[in-house]
Amino acid sequence: MLVTTSTRRITVARTVSELRAAVDAARSAGRSVGFVPTMGALHAGHATLVREAARQHGTVVISIFVNPTQFNDAGDLQNYPRTEQHDLLVAAEAGATIAFVPSVDEVYPHGFATVVSGGPITEQLEGAHRPGHFDGMATVVVRLLNLVRADVAYFGRKDAQQLAVVEQVVRDLAIGTRIQGVETVREPDGLAMSSRNVRLSADDRVRALALSRGLRAAQRVADGGEHSARTIESALRAELDGASLATDYATLVDAATFRPVDVLDRDCVLAVAATVGPVRLIDNVRLAPAAS
Ligand code: PAF
Repeated sequence: MLVTTSTRRITVARTVSELRAAVDAARSAGRSVGFVPTMGALHAGHATLVREAARQHGTVVISIFVNPTQFNDAGDLQNYPRTEQHDLLVAAEAGATIAFVPSVDEVYPHGFATVVSGGPITEQLEGAHRPGHFDGMATVVVRLLNLVRADVAYFGRKDAQQLAVVEQVVRDLAIGTRIQGVETVREPDGLAMSSRNVRLSADDRVRALALSRGLRAAQRVADGGEHSARTIESALRAELDGASLATDYATLVDAATFRPVDVLDRDCVLAVAATVGPVRLIDNVRLAPAAS
């Protein structure tokens, strides 16, 4: 099936064999392949990933699949926005040429039994708060990477821990696709773009700004030469508490292992997860020790 916008066309593949045929045709025509895996509800952050892929490759595959195995909360899965027609137009306009939009049975056919686990990174932060989330995510990403067989796959840095897990499994399982992280895209007021933002009420949207404001405040503290993780985290927590957010974590972790650190003495990630109204949001900033 072809979907056409005023300027672009995108081939929609709903089955593995349709996907393979479309990717094989691109390869036969000598084109390299970029891949952007998504769960749909596309926003400007996804469009940036697709544009980055299109800058580097003649063919860009986007997958649109709300993966049930990575949701540890049935309500979250049920309420996850599904906007396929909008997604196809956004993807095509940004430069995607093939959309893989499979059913659950196509991704997990009868008898599917393998679970991919990303090791110790998955026990920290999101892994501790969302049991099974990373196993489901890593399993579907490995399956998608093996189906698409792209040269490069693109992941947003807003999900920094997800990116680290994907890098781990791709390295360990010798998957032939290179993984490229892409900077978080923010609204002009600082809110990190997320498919879940559409579920924020106007009031909650204002309260949600505490995440990015807190991260910026903590960044200023670190840039000022502060090394104590607790002091840096306090600058973030002050904003979260000021907005009365229910915080799961606001923690400085080692950028490679995602284990909490006491001192900012290496590349770190300051990561936050908080619930605003009905929506759980995550965000992060990378921090390095200030030059002395
Ligand atoms: O980040 C997401 O949207 C999902 O976790 C991903 C990588 C598409 C796997 O379902």
